[in-house]
Amino acid sequence: EKKQFFSEHLLAWYRKHRRDLPWRRSRNPYHIWISEVMLQQTRVDTVIPYFHRFTERFPTMEALANAPEEEVLKLWEGLGYYSRARNLQGAVREVQERYGGVVPDTLKEISTLKGVGPYTAGAVLSIAYNKPEPAVDGNVMRVLSRYFLIEEDIMKIGTRGIMEKLAKELIPEGAAGDFNQGLMELGAMVCTPRSPHCLTCPVMEHCAAREMGMEEELPVKKKA
Ligand code: ADE
Repeated sequence: EKKQFFSEHLLAWYRKHRRDLPWRRSRNPYHIWISEVMLQQTRVDTVIPYFHRFTERFPTMEALANAPEEEVLKLWEGLGYYSRARNLQGAVREVQERYGGVVPDTLKEISTLKGVGPYTAGAVLSIAYNKPEPAVDGNVMRVLSRYFLIEEDIMKIGTRGIMEKLAKELIPEGAAGDFNQGLMELGAMVCTPRSPHCLTCPVMEHCAAREMGMEEELPVKKKA
């Protein structure tokens, strides 16, 4: 079946082709969290040196919680979207105070933290704790919209919910972290916005957009 084919082949592809990135060497929820916040509006190549500097200066949540905000912002300089850094430090302080210094491992609790939206919550829960929660960002919506021919406007509020429900159903038993990262990786490396590399795609043979020659028309993104 189409869904099972997708899940199996994507997971196998990721395990064979995954890039060795610094945050992928760690299962530390705090480090994974930092990486996901940095990666939200910034490319992997840019993030790498910032991730190293940040985790060296603030190796633990305690170190970050106790640092002056200006020092945190200083290390963020050049990444932009500084509210990400302020929210991260604020949320880490909340974890210290309310959760005994342990990043919560449920959607309900982690979602209460400042700056932690559905994407970040799902990414941290799946990658750090292997919890079967979806992590749907723009890359993932592009992959799913093409393979399953979802023609909903991704700018519409409800579309993300549709994607999250589907993405959750696709997670293979016991492999949430690898599967979610595989989706991100496929979107970044193969199923690109322009001129996708379909001939190297592990799921091309059942991709609806490919079948119809509509790769570049999806996802539908109407102007606001
Ligand atoms: N983009 C968002 N999360 C990522 C991750 N964990 N690895 C690579 N690219 C990403």
